[in-house]
Amino acid sequence: MSAGTETVRSVAYTQEQIATRVTEMGLEITRHYEGRDDLLVLGLLKGSFIFLADLVREIQVPFHVDFLIASSYGAGRASSGEVEFLYDPGVRIRDRHVILVEDIVDAGSTVGLVVPLIEARGPESLELCVLLHKRRVRLEKEPRWVGFDAPGEFLVGYGLDHAESFRHLPYIGSLEGPPELAPRSE
Ligand code: IMP
Ligand code: MG
Repeated sequence: MSAGTETVRSVAYTQEQIATRVTEMGLEITRHYEGRDDLLVLGLLKGSFIFLADLVREIQVPFHVDFLIASSYGAGRASSGEVEFLYDPGVRIRDRHVILVEDIVDAGSTVGLVVPLIEARGPESLELCVLLHKRRVRLEKEPRWVGFDAPGEFLVGYGLDHAESFRHLPYIGSLEGPPELAPRSE
């Protein structure tokens, strides 16, 4: 699988590994919120869209789903240290149990900036659920649910992109790794 000059060099997590883990996470989330009312699952777009779609179908308590688009990078690749919501649904956060769903935590700046903005809206509780955590930093608020402790490589697929390519891959792959590994074609 390639886009431009970039090629997926190795598979980090297969479609089956992801599905198994997402089912487990749905079960853990279900157990945590059983008997509680007013749950809101907030997906941080765009990277979480496939993870979120699979995860919400594994959660067996009533809840609403909405989305946020946050940008902490502006036009460049380096984090600006500020975050703005490019899309903010304006749903009620106050007094609700909120799960913020993110694709991957790298330097932690995105969740580090978004969490205080959500907390300022007065949720009853706020938990983070992330598919991949590179564990490069200690976060002020660590995710309660983590799919995988990810390698430091740049990962694509299952919603994650490189310059908007590769999001549709059903597995998670690395653009790095030994060049002799043939990319899996879909
Ligand atoms: P952080 O703010 O440095 O934690 O980075 C989080 C955001 O950067 C994620 O929401 C992704 O959009 C993007 N990102 C970080 N690492 C990767 C990666 O390995 N692949 C694809 N996107 C990534
Ligand atoms: Mg993202």
